[in-house]
Amino acid sequence: MTPDLKGRSLSSMRNHTRAEIELMLDTAADARERKRRGERPLRLAGRNIAVVFLKPSSRTRAAFVVAAADEGAHAEVLRAEDVRFGVKESVKDIARVLGRLYDGIAFRGFGEDVLEALVEHSGVPVWNALTERYHPTQALADMLTLRDEFGTLERLAITYVGDGRNNVARSLAIAASKMGFQLRILAPPELQLPAEELGEFGDAVLATHDPEVALHESAAVYNDVWVSMGEEGELERRISLLRDFKVTPELMAATGRDDTIYLHCLPAYHDLETEFARAHPDAREVDDAVFEGPQSRVFDQAENRMHTAKAVMVLSLGG
Ligand code: CP
Repeated sequence: MTPDLKGRSLSSMRNHTRAEIELMLDTAADARERKRRGERPLRLAGRNIAVVFLKPSSRTRAAFVVAAADEGAHAEVLRAEDVRFGVKESVKDIARVLGRLYDGIAFRGFGEDVLEALVEHSGVPVWNALTERYHPTQALADMLTLRDEFGTLERLAITYVGDGRNNVARSLAIAASKMGFQLRILAPPELQLPAEELGEFGDAVLATHDPEVALHESAAVYNDVWVSMGEEGELERRISLLRDFKVTPELMAATGRDDTIYLHCLPAYHDLETEFARAHPDAREVDDAVFEGPQSRVFDQAENRMHTAKAVMVLSLGG
């Protein structure tokens, strides 16, 4: 039986089954085909979506706004200065107001507490567009990109290189535990998920600092910036911990496969075109040769952010 995601929120993917995740990926692939054929099914016509973003974003925000517009919905972006959770109004009160006005809420913020309060009190589906611990809509786009390339996720090995404790790595770990692929986190011990958390994922997640173990037969190498939003003060320590974990052509070749792809959630530091990279050239997590090379799928992955956001909204709102 096809799963029914009507009315469901997306907090972390922990509460979603494999069949439900597959449905989201199938719906995203179908939405992409329809868009390329010029079809506009307008499955969210008349709906209003709140895009509540307390942190900066280009891809995720644009993904939700464009996906909503494609399906006939109106999306309203509300920033930190508009929605002052716990400053002038309680989270619970704001949640109830948003739920009276909007049909769904895409939320980007800090801890999980505000997200969970929105889920509990708004009465409408809430989609996690990034919190400190989770980035599930990113993981959905990553899985769609992998499926596009390899036809299946089953038994793939994916190597995540960098800060293994961040929200992207954690969401990929949850995805691996649900979908039958193995996530290998290649990072120094200081930047691995805690042992008790790793234990939850069983054999689906392998934490190692040994490149040979992490890269052997990997279908994809994935990385992220070395410091996440809000961790800027950590930069020098991260550079010293991660300088040997930069993604280079040699690291890519160490998979032993000629079809390994390179993924990055973006934004990426790979050249000297940004102020940040010019100020901190040693903090670049990937060589330009890999980022711009034939193995890179980073812009397909970025486009897939929109198709997967569309699938999540359409399925939750029952269009
Ligand atoms: N990957 C990602 O979440 O990008 P944004 O921060 O631009 O949304």
